[in-house]
Amino acid sequence: MFWLYFILFILLIVFIVAIVTLVILLKTKVPFVSLPIKTINKILDLISLEENEILYELGCGDSRFLIAAQRKYKIKGVGYELNWWALIRSKLNIFFHQAEIVVYNKDFLKEDLSKADYIFVYLLDSALLKLEKKIIKNNYSEVKIISYGFKFPNLTPSQVLSTQDRTNNNKGLVYIYNL
Ligand SMILES: C[S@@+](CC[C@H](N)C(=O)[O-])C[C@H]1O[C@@H](n2cnc3c(N)ncnc32)[C@H](O)[C@@H]1O
Repeated sequence: MFWLYFILFILLIVFIVAIVTLVILLKTKVPFVSLPIKTINKILDLISLEENEILYELGCGDSRFLIAAQRKYKIKGVGYELNWWALIRSKLNIFFHQAEIVVYNKDFLKEDLSKADYIFVYLLDSALLKLEKKIIKNNYSEVKIISYGFKFPNLTPSQVLSTQDRTNNNKGLVYIYNL
C-alpha cells in the first residue's frame, strides 16, 4: 500500500510540474533554449561593456551569458526568468561560479528596467514586440540594447554584427540599439 501511495505522489508531482511548465510556456511563448558557450563568447567579443555598469538580461535562462559577461567586463548583472527549470540552473550556475548576479523569478514586461545601462535579449519576435512597446512607452533612451538572433520589429539597429553561427532560423546576428 505504501508503494502505491508513493507512486501516486510522484505522479502527482510530475503532473503539477508539467502543468506549471506548460502555463509558463503559454504565457511567455518563448521556450528555454540556451545559447552555446561558444556563441556567448563570440557575442561578448563583438560588443564592449564598461566596468561596473549594469547589464540586465531579460529571459536570462541559466544565466551563463551574465556570468561570462561579468567575468569578461566586470559588469553588475541582473536577470529575469520565468521558467522554473532555467531558474534552478541559473541559481546553481551563479553559486558554483561565485558570481555576483541577481536573478528574479519575475515577468520582465512588468518590471522597471530604467536602472539598466545595457539590456541583453535572446527572444523570439512575439516577445520582442511586447518589449519594444514597453521600451517606447517608458522612453528608455539611456539604455543600450543588444539582441541576439532576432531584431525588434520596428526599431532600427545602430549596428549589426555577425557571430557567423548560423542555424536554420537564426542568422547569428547581433543587433545593437542605441535609443
Ligand atoms: C530563448 S531563451 C534564452 C535563454 C538565455 N537568455 C540564453 O541565451 O541562453 C528565452 C528565455 O526567456 C524567458 N522569458 C520569456 N519571456 C519572459 C518574460 N516575460 N519574463 C521572464 N522571462 C521570460 C523564457 O522562459 C526563456 O527561458
